[in-house]
Amino acid sequence: LRELRVLGIETSCDDTAAAVVTSSGRILGEANLHQHAVHAPHGGIVPGLAANHHLRNLPLAIRSALDQSGLLLTDLDCIAVTRGPGLPASLSVGVAGGKALAAAHSMPLVGVHHMEAHALMARMSNAHVRFPFLCLLVSGGHTMSLVAHAVNEYSVLGSTLDDSVGEAFDKVARELQLPWVDAQDGGGAGPALERIARQGDPSRFPLPVPMDKSASARLLDFSFSGLKAHVRRLRETHAFDPCVAQDQADMAAAFQHAAARHLAKKTRLAFARAGQMGVAPTCLVVSGGVASNLAVRRALEEVARENNVGMACPEPRLCTDNGVMIAWAGVERMRVGLLDPYTIDFIQRWPL
Ligand code: KG4
Ligand code: ZN
Repeated sequence: LRELRVLGIETSCDDTAAAVVTSSGRILGEANLHQHAVHAPHGGIVPGLAANHHLRNLPLAIRSALDQSGLLLTDLDCIAVTRGPGLPASLSVGVAGGKALAAAHSMPLVGVHHMEAHALMARMSNAHVRFPFLCLLVSGGHTMSLVAHAVNEYSVLGSTLDDSVGEAFDKVARELQLPWVDAQDGGGAGPALERIARQGDPSRFPLPVPMDKSASARLLDFSFSGLKAHVRRLRETHAFDPCVAQDQADMAAAFQHAAARHLAKKTRLAFARAGQMGVAPTCLVVSGGVASNLAVRRALEEVARENNVGMACPEPRLCTDNGVMIAWAGVERMRVGLLDPYTIDFIQRWPL
């Protein structure tokens, strides 16, 4: 049986990405055109601008991924495209492009849920990530825990009630006047905060663990805005001075410690909830930019160990929004026969 080859297209937010991936998990070509520089002067993503850039960049991304693969469009078995959730104008560019390509070549089409693609990514390079598994998505865009029962079958257990964990790292880093490292691949100030925290004492400015007394309905959800506000208050009341190196380091360590404890506590509860559902996860998958943080990683490894499972993290490059994850989700969905008609539309708000 020949390997499947799938072209994945992602335009849900501000990255225009395309990739060609095989059913054995080989990446034959990939391109990701970022728009950070376009939106940075506006202090946030401008939907109209994002859509314009997708319109301009999508053909370039597809061309580049195909060129690298050495394949013709007709060599492909399927086109997978992010259908939602995301910005409507952004999504519509990718969906229209993907549908048109597939229809013109009478090729199978798969519409992909963006969060399903994040969750399935770990299975591409780690053959031992079998269903069911517990997945924690911790990035600048997402903070969510879920049980992946099977392809197309998920139970979302918890998500953030306010900021994402990555946003919290970035906002606290700003309070600490740390440099914003805007790397081409996503950036964020998390790595700078982690570096400085190594010199810090987390017990000097103890921070409250978020949601310690929250109602049971919210038991599995996350919250990070309180931590951020607490750090801001401490700065405003001159409890610490971001210009003093030791203060900066101690505050960074305190925040990182509190964030890691919060994530660990919620993950522990997620394992318990899975157990109540009669699910025994085979693995804890942790994905997203914040998964590179060593303190977070150690705290979650501990939770995995307590539950007698291993922890798997896709490499950071594949944790950010990319075309590979969409192509791989296309492989996974195609294998179980989940194809879509050429008439599908994007879905702005789409529960998993
Ligand atoms: O998954 P990701 O690269 O992409 C987006 O979601 O956009 O996540 C980026 C986020 C940023 O907020 C960044 O500050 C955070 O992940 N991050 C980290 C670390 N590396 C990246 N946060 C804490 N510690 C790190 N080492
Ligand atoms: Zn994403």
